[in-house]
Amino acid sequence: MKKIDWKKINADAILLANPKNIRHFSGLAATFGFVIIDKEKVVLFADGRYFEIASKTSFADEVILLKGIDDVKSHLEKYSSVAIEGDYVTLEMKKQFSKLHNNLVEINGQSLRMVKSDSDIESLKKATSITKKVMKWISEQLKPGMTEIEVSILIETELRRLGSEPFDYMPIVSSGPNSALPHHHPSNRVMQEGETVMFDFAAVVDGFTADITRNYSVGELKDPEIKKIKEIVRKSQEAGIAAVKPGVTGKEIDEICRKVIEEAGYGDKFIHSTGHGLGRDVHELPNVSKFSITKFEPGHVITVEPGIYLPGIGGIRIEDDILVTENGYEIL
Ligand code: CO
Repeated sequence: MKKIDWKKINADAILLANPKNIRHFSGLAATFGFVIIDKEKVVLFADGRYFEIASKTSFADEVILLKGIDDVKSHLEKYSSVAIEGDYVTLEMKKQFSKLHNNLVEINGQSLRMVKSDSDIESLKKATSITKKVMKWISEQLKPGMTEIEVSILIETELRRLGSEPFDYMPIVSSGPNSALPHHHPSNRVMQEGETVMFDFAAVVDGFTADITRNYSVGELKDPEIKKIKEIVRKSQEAGIAAVKPGVTGKEIDEICRKVIEEAGYGDKFIHSTGHGLGRDVHELPNVSKFSITKFEPGHVITVEPGIYLPGIGGIRIEDDILVTENGYEIL
């Protein structure tokens, strides 16, 4: 059973509907279902499409065949208050849920997954390992004349071939001036000798996604300014990662990374926050931005990904996935 910090939950039970949380707390990968957790046990409600596979694979204490919403309602009767996922439930769903119980409390469902277990970390390590293998492989395939779309298809195929589940986000491949756009969608642009190409993609393993960014060049990198900003971004990222430990906040890491880039004269070209939490969602808690005052705890996983973007010329971003450990950090 996954650990829940009940001190932070102002209810007797939690009703989960987000498929990512259903998978996290029951092991069932399904597009629909419910999980009810109280201090004693985890109960999974799976409908006819998923009941058989759930009975075989779920680690919930009990699996119930979901025939109608009344099955959930009768199960909730014994609780005086029930927490629902405020970050997932739509207004329409809330209307339906209010028929299930008359004392609903909102919690942030994602925060339930913020501290990773050993098995979560194992899955993340498998995801980063596949991602890094494909990064190295694709860097060796780059040739003038290839298009961004061609290269992104090669990446998708290789990620899946090495064991990735369908991706949480599609590979970003941005060549030359397109790399100045942080989240460019791969296009038919033809790659030229000597230019930089930004890659941001990730394998998914057991529902956990990596998130890694690298720049490689087509042949030898030509532009001296791109070479210069690559070195600045590398130093910025190194400084940020080195400061990660329990008790530090995302705000502090953001400041450290930003300072290196500001001092080099490119402060206004670092146009996004330094990172974000990572897990079953590619962007989850805790954040790594100037607004993030959540203190890191062992088991948190974040990205550190400073970047410099020169419009019309190109951009550099370097991103790695960092586990907060008892004494500091580990790069996954
Ligand atoms: Co990222």
